[in-house]
Amino acid sequence: MLTDPATKARIEARVNEGLRGYWYPVAKSVQISAKRPYGTKVLGEKIVLWRDRDGKIRCIEDYCPHRGAPLSYGEVHDGNIGCRYHGVIVDGTGTVQRVPAMPDCAMEGRKALRDFVVQEAHDAVFVYIPSVDRPEPPELPLPKELSDPEWTGFLCTSVWDVNYRYALDNLADPMHGCYLHAESFTLAFGSKQDLLELDRRDDGFRVSRVGQTGENFDWSEFVVAESGMFCFLDIPYPPAAGPGGNMRILGYVCPIDETHCKVFFWRMRKVTGIERQSWRFLYRTMLEERHWAVLEQDRVMLEGMPDDARKREMLYQHDIGVAHLRRALNSAAKAQIAAEDSAA
Ligand code: FES
Ligand SMILES: [Fe+2]
Repeated sequence: MLTDPATKARIEARVNEGLRGYWYPVAKSVQISAKRPYGTKVLGEKIVLWRDRDGKIRCIEDYCPHRGAPLSYGEVHDGNIGCRYHGVIVDGTGTVQRVPAMPDCAMEGRKALRDFVVQEAHDAVFVYIPSVDRPEPPELPLPKELSDPEWTGFLCTSVWDVNYRYALDNLADPMHGCYLHAESFTLAFGSKQDLLELDRRDDGFRVSRVGQTGENFDWSEFVVAESGMFCFLDIPYPPAAGPGGNMRILGYVCPIDETHCKVFFWRMRKVTGIERQSWRFLYRTMLEERHWAVLEQDRVMLEGMPDDARKREMLYQHDIGVAHLRRALNSAAKAQIAAEDSAA
């Protein structure tokens, strides 16, 4: 069935702002405390997170029901959040608990704000952004390596001034490794010419170089679940990088708003015992800095591209992963918009 231009524009806008009905990582666990609220944005919406008296993370709109001040500028009192402007106290469900400046104020007891379901997993904080067809959170999709005792790693996050689609495109594009990262410690190897192939899976897809594996960043795999998306790829390690073989990157991208995103990468290695200790030590003392340098190359390149580069781009064979990823996002957005229309 043909899609009319207005619906097409809505689908494109939905993809651009980020799909709903998804879990997104929004912060590292250590960033959320029982003292200071943490303000951020997801899909263009301001949210605030903090820990209540039981240490559980709460998340509501970052908006004071009184006159709209950011609650994230306030403080946590007894597990609730107090607005910095005139002291209104709101709880983790978005209900006004107290208006200290005005006895018996009618605002008290009113649920004024939306609250979001939060899940902490493997040093990250995930928030579920509901959609019309999936108001309740399904299971959070997580890579198996995170709960496998044979693997160990570190979570790194970074905010990029670019739409999240560029960060995903970059992950679905193994050919950039031997060019953009040609000078790096681990990605300087392999041929600079190749073909790519796409392998569609029930739960996602894999894009890989035909001519080489294990030389460079040669493949990436996306797991596209109904309720979220993550990807993984391997970076071959030279012997100088210590024990454990390849480094596996597990990646999520959170759309902050249409021109910013936050990347979450777990840098993992399959090592146990004493080798695990030595890799963790080596990582912190030597390798981490090098990995950041590589990630910065990605960030700088993507931030240098115009917001609407896709309107003028000329894709070629190597972009099959990028094209497939875009189709997956598009069809998910289309289904969401259809569900919203039929609910309306
Ligand atoms: S705006 Fe928050 S208490 Fe007035
Ligand atoms: Fe890269």
